[in-house]
Amino acid sequence: MAYLQDTKPLKLGDISRMRTGGEKIAMLTCYDSSFAAMLDRCGVDAVLVGDSLGNVIQGHATTLPVKIEDMVYHTECVFRGMERAFLIADMPFGSYQESREQAMRNAAKLMAAGAQMVKVEGGAYMAETVRFLVERGVPICAHIGLTPQSVHQLGGYRIQGKGDNAASAMLADALALEQAGAALMVIEMTPTETATRITNALKTTATIGIGAGPHCDGQVLVLYDMIGVFPGKRPRFVKNFIPDTGTIEGAVKAYVAEVKSGAFPAKEHGY
Ligand code: KIV
Repeated sequence: MAYLQDTKPLKLGDISRMRTGGEKIAMLTCYDSSFAAMLDRCGVDAVLVGDSLGNVIQGHATTLPVKIEDMVYHTECVFRGMERAFLIADMPFGSYQESREQAMRNAAKLMAAGAQMVKVEGGAYMAETVRFLVERGVPICAHIGLTPQSVHQLGGYRIQGKGDNAASAMLADALALEQAGAALMVIEMTPTETATRITNALKTTATIGIGAGPHCDGQVLVLYDMIGVFPGKRPRFVKNFIPDTGTIEGAVKAYVAEVKSGAFPAKEHGY
């Protein structure tokens, strides 16, 4: 089934079937209603209200200052603009690490705002929280590799999962999170070889790469990066689609087409 032509609202089962059917999942971040409507029109499958809004909307140097209230507000805005895409919202720093109950309380706020799934950063140590939320009706997108909320712990925005030991540790994290029920898993800034190994090892969880090579089940980029409006340093995994297309709508359509065909990410976007 070609979900690109399908105008019905996408559900979790549709996203999972894209993985099993071999159709790449095209995801972009989004923070407001007008862009949400455009991404929908252009065939984006999943929209992430990312806590990257701390950088691209609020002008912070990291995602750490983002509050749950900010995420709820932007999730409501995006939800009002969308008809088809699957809506995921980020749990911001400090809103889920304290206890499973705190995570549930804050996930419920995002689901009430329109999210169909929430994203949490972290490896196997998050599995217990993931299981707790999934059992209570909250679909989960895990996020491993470079986890920006841990930037100070990691010592910067550095590539993760490089070398045999680090790759095996990341694989163990991925398997624990799958076992706990995570349906999606973002893999960020990770060698292609490691991300491919993880994607091949997972049985039910769909991987979404960002700087993780072409073999993940889908791809995500920060919207403001791929249309070239964010003034900060552009990581190697970002492609600006504007020069080849001339319009924002053209850029988003080209992104979707290149993710679906496998043309993006190219070798130069990987590690
Ligand atoms: O916050 C965000 O935008 C993200 C993506 C980069 C995956 O987590």
